[in-house]
Amino acid sequence: MRILAIETSCDETAISIVEAKDGLETPSFDVLAHLVSSQTKIHAPWGGVVPNLAKREHQKNLIPILRQALTKFKKVKKLSSDRKEKIADWPPRKIADVKKILAREPELLARFLKFIPTITAPPIDALAVTRGPGLEPALWVGINFAKALALVWQKPLVPVNHLEGHIYSVLIPTINHKLKPKISISFPALALLVSGGHTELILIKNWLEHKTIGQTLDDAAGECFDKVARLLGLPYPGGPAIAKLAKQFSNETSARGATPAVGQGPASGWKTYSLPRPMLHSPDFNFSFSGLKTAALYLVKKESPLNQAQRAALAYECQQAIVETLVKKTAKALIKLKPRTLIVTGGVAANQELKRQMKKMITTLSPELADCQLLISNSQLSTDNATMIAVAAHLHLQKKKKISKNFSADGNLKLD
Ligand code: KG4
Ligand code: ZN
Repeated sequence: MRILAIETSCDETAISIVEAKDGLETPSFDVLAHLVSSQTKIHAPWGGVVPNLAKREHQKNLIPILRQALTKFKKVKKLSSDRKEKIADWPPRKIADVKKILAREPELLARFLKFIPTITAPPIDALAVTRGPGLEPALWVGINFAKALALVWQKPLVPVNHLEGHIYSVLIPTINHKLKPKISISFPALALLVSGGHTELILIKNWLEHKTIGQTLDDAAGECFDKVARLLGLPYPGGPAIAKLAKQFSNETSARGATPAVGQGPASGWKTYSLPRPMLHSPDFNFSFSGLKTAALYLVKKESPLNQAQRAALAYECQQAIVETLVKKTAKALIKLKPRTLIVTGGVAANQELKRQMKKMITTLSPELADCQLLISNSQLSTDNATMIAVAAHLHLQKKKKISKNFSADGNLKLD
């Protein structure tokens, strides 16, 4: 089963071609092409993603990225090059249908009609596309593009929930197509999904059977990283920038022989700060990060202008507060639910400190959880990409879930 997947839910234009083998018992995947074009530089001046700019960029990027993905695919599979056709070979009805599907994406339509008629349909079995959640103007570009390709190439199209993509991305430990270690998920599983738009704890009874047991009541963890980064004058996306500065702080303080004792006053001349760990002791599995951001704002105002050491200390404490909250809440859910697998995924799962603390927590938490396997998404697959969309689509096809043809973008699509 070869799937060509498209992801445009936010500020990454991504296309992947993935070959899926075996059924649900031990699914294995071979990533034949994995293309991601990030728009972060375009959105950076605004400190966040601007939906209409994202839409414009997706329209511009999809055809060049498809072209690259197909080239890679042909190289990997040693396929011969294309027979050229001219647009005139297409019956007027086909052109009219494509024009109708891409009526709201004129720039993409022009590129589509210039390129697609010159190539033959690639040897794939299905197409997949992100349906939501995400920014609707951005989602629509990918959906309409996928619908037009499905029509022209006569392939089935699987709509995919972006969050399912993040969860099952852990089935691919590496995007190097020559290495194919098999990963299995033992159920029940618990997933911590932490991204720019989501912070959720999800109980997974079996493949694609999800129940959200906790979520953020306001800002997502990634959003908190992004907002505090902005306060500190760091570029968007804030997560990697804060992590880098936090590392500088730990390196400096350990070089001076002091472990950063957070919130306990100066450490070898380097000031430390204390930020709240929101909802750590609440009886549920919910999160809240807007208070943390506000506390950071007060500190920045109070201490302004911040020197480099102060900015690094604040970045360190912000990362610690977010990571500690995520790890402790996850530990609480693990103790209560005793799953056989813990999945940590989403953009924030790329954070090294989060990975370190999660690994430590799970090995020391309780003897009852000694056999609980920890699956953290590969850093290249934790932020948005289309490989994860292909993986989720494969699971849908294996489960023979009903696939609707006339689906629309759903910015608030839920998991359960
Ligand atoms: O999953 P993702 O690419 O997009 C969404 O679906 O939201 O996640 C993006 C988020 C951003 O908020 C970004 O700051 C955060 O993930 N992020 C990180 C790191 N890399 C990306 N946060 C902390 N540490 C990182 N290394
Ligand atoms: Zn995402």
